[in-house]
Amino acid sequence: MSHAATIARTAALYERVRPVIPPMEWGAFAGDIEAILDLKAERNAVILAHNYQTPEIFHCIADITGDSLALARRAMEVDADVIVLAGVQFMAETAKLMNPEKTVLIPDLRAGCSLAASITPEDVRLMRARYPDAPVVAYVNTSAAVKAESDICCTSGNARKIVESLGARRVIMLPDEYLAKNVAAETGVEIIAWAGHCEVHERFTAAEIRALRAAHPGVVVLAHPECPPEVVAEADYAGSTAGMASYVERNRPARVVLITECSMSDNVAVQYPGLDFIRPCNLCPHMKRITLKKIRGALETMTHEVTIDPAIAAPARRAVERMLAVK
Ligand code: 13P
Ligand code: SF4
Repeated sequence: MSHAATIARTAALYERVRPVIPPMEWGAFAGDIEAILDLKAERNAVILAHNYQTPEIFHCIADITGDSLALARRAMEVDADVIVLAGVQFMAETAKLMNPEKTVLIPDLRAGCSLAASITPEDVRLMRARYPDAPVVAYVNTSAAVKAESDICCTSGNARKIVESLGARRVIMLPDEYLAKNVAAETGVEIIAWAGHCEVHERFTAAEIRALRAAHPGVVVLAHPECPPEVVAEADYAGSTAGMASYVERNRPARVVLITECSMSDNVAVQYPGLDFIRPCNLCPHMKRITLKKIRGALETMTHEVTIDPAIAAPARRAVERMLAVK
């Protein structure tokens, strides 16, 4: 099949991302996109993509997109034999926990997360021993083994609701110190935090936000709650990646900045060509390990398959299910 024919066949898909991908670059993506669409049909596979995936993945080949909470929820609705997780390891593990009978693939095993890497199951047991009256809330950005040691999971989209649902005087919330502090500022529940940080969001500073406001008068600042509290304090709104996207949808701010990972702005910006997106952002090196070529390779070779020890999977699944049951 000629390259020109591939470009012609993918022309409608290109229209979805035209504002953020120059025509010259599309030539490098079109062949892999066509191959992935064929492989998805052949393997009866679906692709789940996090909001931080690049636009050619997010808008052109993904079947289900969203924040960590949406991906965990919607993973349960999947009616396919194979799930390819375009995101990081903990997301693929969560999809596997919710779909033990399906094949779950992650295109690059090195797609980790600084938060998930900051804590071990042993650390959780030590925290429990030190604060025996405090239930453990594990951020979904943790390994299945850490979830298995926890009472309930949370995401940035439901953290406060989960903490308050427990009816406890104090809770252990791990591993993100900043998310824990940001939730503590909104609730009367005492929060005992762990000192993990997201390597992407910890780099933003309050001075940077103030400089942005000075350089771009009227800009609306939306920040992810993994940012340090002093950054969140400078923002107009703090919320999960899905929360930021729906803020833009609801309010249509003429000029806006998303204090988060870079692809998030690209993915939202293509949907609102009239809005001015200011782009200081930080790249997540883990999310960026996932590429079209690796997704194609994953479907061709059926690698890398996510497996979880059943002794860990059962309690870890319980912690995720408890979270999903909180309305
Ligand atoms: P969300 O749940 O808000 O999508 O965040 C996931 C994540 O990894 C943010 O850094
Ligand atoms: Fe982890 Fe931060 Fe990357 Fe999200 S952005 S996957 S929290 S390192």
